[in-house]
Amino acid sequence: MRILGIESSCDETGVALVETLADGGVPRLAAHALHSQISMHQAYGGVVPELASRDHIRRVLPLTETVLAEAGCTRADIDVVAFTRGPGLAGALLVGAGVACALGAALGRPVLGVHHLEGHLLSPFLSVDPPQFPFVALLVSGGHTQLMRVEGVGRYELLGETIDDAAGEAFDKSAKLMGLPYPGGPWLSKLAEGGDAQAFKLPRPLLHSGDLDFSFAGLKTAVLTQTKKLGAELEARKADLAASTQAAIVEVLVRKSLAALQRTGLTRLVVAGGVGANKLLREQLNAACARRKVRVHYPELSLCTDNGAMIALAAAMRIQSGLSQPEARYAFDVKPRWPLDALAGTPLPSPTA
Ligand code: KG4
Ligand code: ZN
Repeated sequence: MRILGIESSCDETGVALVETLADGGVPRLAAHALHSQISMHQAYGGVVPELASRDHIRRVLPLTETVLAEAGCTRADIDVVAFTRGPGLAGALLVGAGVACALGAALGRPVLGVHHLEGHLLSPFLSVDPPQFPFVALLVSGGHTQLMRVEGVGRYELLGETIDDAAGEAFDKSAKLMGLPYPGGPWLSKLAEGGDAQAFKLPRPLLHSGDLDFSFAGLKTAVLTQTKKLGAELEARKADLAASTQAAIVEVLVRKSLAALQRTGLTRLVVAGGVGANKLLREQLNAACARRKVRVHYPELSLCTDNGAMIALAAAMRIQSGLSQPEARYAFDVKPRWPLDALAGTPLPSPTA
């Protein structure tokens, strides 16, 4: 079975073709293509939803043709069309959903709407070192910071999440305060390489809260206070402030991930979402997990941020596990807000069962 995946939830148009294997093993990525709108939104310092939707419209079909050509396939070879149904920007989601349903109707193929975060969560299965269930997942994207217990496809238990800003948002907002371009995460972490992480004492919110929740809004405020205090000196101290900010975010993510592993007794950790590309986070998680004999899995760097491959893969794994059936659709909806643990699946056994 060949599944075309279309991702359009935010500022990246991603299309990919994934093939399921006859032996029921992890599906294979045949080809993927991506167009990032980052340079278009940079002038505004953030994503402009209407511009995002219009650009998805322009890109999605040419990207589909590129993917099919790269995979040596034609449209007739597509068996299922998958798309990101949510969460994300409503207008942007509607483009992917509309194109997917129209393609499905034109080709006489069924379609399946996929949860964006489930895509991120399962994306490490496309890496050279795929994980095995069960595992703890640290989902760190631009809009979400969550720790999940993952027993299998569709079997997710939320262990903790951010009560305000996401980790990616903390990176992006802090970077903006330092005058760095959007999205700030990669820029801030590059700048931090030349800085002293001890230079500024920044808060580690909820580090000792005893639960697995996160809060990053206070950290952003502390960075704002520092930039104001520094005034004209900011330029000269920017690398130190970036390094200190990154160290604070990473320390909280690492400590809470370790606490989640300890609480669940699981010995595998999967890190997914854009912030999962952060070098310091990977180094510190690798070191801490090696000491505790915990295996850590990441998606390939190219599949850390939004992409169509993870959407096609999530659809493939849901279909393979019998959790979802693609269907002919002549009407569609999207879910801009959609908690991952609300996905239908086999419920996890309660702790007392
Ligand atoms: O998963 P993603 O592509 O989009 C969402 O679904 O939100 O994540 C984007 C986020 C942005 O906040 C971006 O700044 C952050 O991931 N990011 C990074 C790095 N690369 C991307 N943050 C820190 N370090 C990086 N290397
Ligand atoms: Zn994402």
